[in-house]
Amino acid sequence: MENTNTTAAHFQTTIPPTPNDTHVTGKTIIIKGGRSGLVFEGARQFLLLGASRIILACRSAKRGQEAVSTLKADHQIAKTNLAAIIEAFELDLDDYQSGPRNSGHEQTMQVNCYTRILICLEIPPLLKATAVIRGSPTGITFVGSLTHSGQESLSKTLIPPSEPILDFFDNVSKYNRFTRYADGKLAVNVYIRRFATLAPSEVITGLDKNLPAPLRLVMELGGRTLVHAAVAASAETNGKFLRNNKIDP
Ligand SMILES: NC(=O)c1ccc[n+]([C@@H]2O[C@H](COP(=O)([O-])OP(=O)(O)OC[C@H]3O[C@@H](n4cnc5c(N)ncnc54)[C@H](OP(=O)(O)O)[C@@H]3O)[C@@H](O)[C@H]2O)c1
Repeated sequence: MENTNTTAAHFQTTIPPTPNDTHVTGKTIIIKGGRSGLVFEGARQFLLLGASRIILACRSAKRGQEAVSTLKADHQIAKTNLAAIIEAFELDLDDYQSGPRNSGHEQTMQVNCYTRILICLEIPPLLKATAVIRGSPTGITFVGSLTHSGQESLSKTLIPPSEPILDFFDNVSKYNRFTRYADGKLAVNVYIRRFATLAPSEVITGLDKNLPAPLRLVMELGGRTLVHAAVAASAETNGKFLRNNKIDP
């Protein structure tokens, strides 16, 4: 799909369609925060590519079930992948009992960064074992953001060497709601230099409802980047940051 809006085109390029020969038949895909937004759209696209099982890990069981119902009612999915198992799993990234550790930290960092990293520290043995059993690679894809360049705490307002990093981010006097999201995204970016990642362009989701729609790509394009990074991109993208499906150094 070409972006025909000149204002939008100034800010972002289009994202190529997922190649026709991309299939995820037989795969189980767990999607965190998957009840809405661009990762929900990613779930839809994985199902259209033949995923056998999609698990939406959502903080609200009720909203998770609603998302499952929406996917099951999708005519395209029903037509092409009726046998797929679609289910929801309760996982609140801000509820430390939900994650692999029980601790309490500033919410933006906890949800966007710490819990995700901790889960990814725990899950590789399972992924490796699954890859051996299934005879095909498994992987983790993080949704990054170009906003990481707007971070502050990691380079502009330096964290004093004497201060533990978690203490710094937990200190309410250091909190800046405009830059904390970017801090979390940069920290994740640093971490996922060992994991494949992506940076979707701005898309229409619940994330920032105040941005004018013409400045964002439709949800489908954001989902494409997620799908591309997870199952279509070559191994050379592992541990790299992808922007519009290309490695962005
Ligand atoms: N939209 C963009 O243009 C854009 C650009 C770059 C990167 N991203 C990234 O893409 C990802 C998805 O963003 P989005 O724009 O699609 O946002 P969204 O529409 O607001 O969706 C966010 C999802 O995260 C879930 N969530 C929030 N807090 C959670 C928690 N504590 N535990 C578990 N799930 C939680 C929400 O579930 P509930 O609603 O049920 O709470 C919702 O399903 C984010 O990582 C974002 O940083 C987005």
